[in-house]
Amino acid sequence: MKDQAEILRRRMQELDGKPQAKTIAIASGKGGVGKSNFSINFALQLMKNGKKVLIFDLDIGMGNIDILMGKSPTRTFVDLFREEMSIHDIIELGPESLPYIAGGSGLSHIFELDQVKFTYFQDEYEKLSKSFDYILFDMGAGATQDSLNFISSAHEAIVVTTPEPTSITDGYAMIKHLVHKDKNLPLKILVNRSLSEKNGRATFDRLSLVVKRFLDSEVTLLGVLPDDRSVLEAVNKQRPFVIDRPNSSVSRAIGKLVHSYLNEGHLQSSPRSFVDKLKRFVFER
Ligand SMILES: Nc1ncnc2c1ncn2[C@@H]1O[C@H](COP(=O)(O)OP(=O)(O)O)[C@@H](O)[C@H]1O
Ligand SMILES: [Mg+2]
Repeated sequence: MKDQAEILRRRMQELDGKPQAKTIAIASGKGGVGKSNFSINFALQLMKNGKKVLIFDLDIGMGNIDILMGKSPTRTFVDLFREEMSIHDIIELGPESLPYIAGGSGLSHIFELDQVKFTYFQDEYEKLSKSFDYILFDMGAGATQDSLNFISSAHEAIVVTTPEPTSITDGYAMIKHLVHKDKNLPLKILVNRSLSEKNGRATFDRLSLVVKRFLDSEVTLLGVLPDDRSVLEAVNKQRPFVIDRPNSSVSRAIGKLVHSYLNEGHLQSSPRSFVDKLKRFVFER
């Protein structure tokens, strides 16, 4: 039998010096605006471009990610602690072998970890971070203290809104909370379900203007996705739309969005790791 410690040591050596994943939180003020569909299809499109991506499903109670991928996870985040598993053991695979972790009982679980368990999580997350290029957090809607702390610990946040006034207002409220938490958190806006590219850009312009004027802060446009029936059709089939309808307008738009996302010349993401930032919040409560 191989020595466990030896295996672990070797695994850690392999990961030594590898860069950290970019941690991206996908959030919104209002629910049902398309976060989970975006997360999955954005992840798949990044993978098509050779990136290693993992989704962490934190939209608890809605059980979105697994349903959208037609899977039922056998392990969740909670098992990591219950059975002292390695974080790699709780990764489930969706379509196209898209790796994801089911959040289990969710964020509150993370914020209730004691020092010992948090250190365990920290070590495990570090392994995860060195095995992927991007880690996407699919968040629940709305702004609780826990979710705001969590989102603002990420390297960047994508705030999803539709052109509807209620969605924009709730999106603005979310941005306001996040700016108050951390003025340096890069904020990107995704306008989903837009009737046209022009209409989507106008939505972004309105939002960015109020953010500038009232919060003295900047948001950038990640992209505009059209309102497209093929999303609903794909959801009904429990298949991601980029797989179900690769030539639909929404799939083409996501292809374009990822292309420009990867070519924008990322600012080096903050050297502080996600878990280091999160730790502050967990033990300051
Ligand atoms: N681009 C789109 N075009 C048309 N319908 C969409 C689009 N994006 C989302 N939807 C609809 O909105 C519903 C909710 O999307 P979902 O990703 O589950 O939202 P959230 O995760 O924000 O709650 C989907 O089931 C689909 O019917
Ligand atoms: Mg969701």
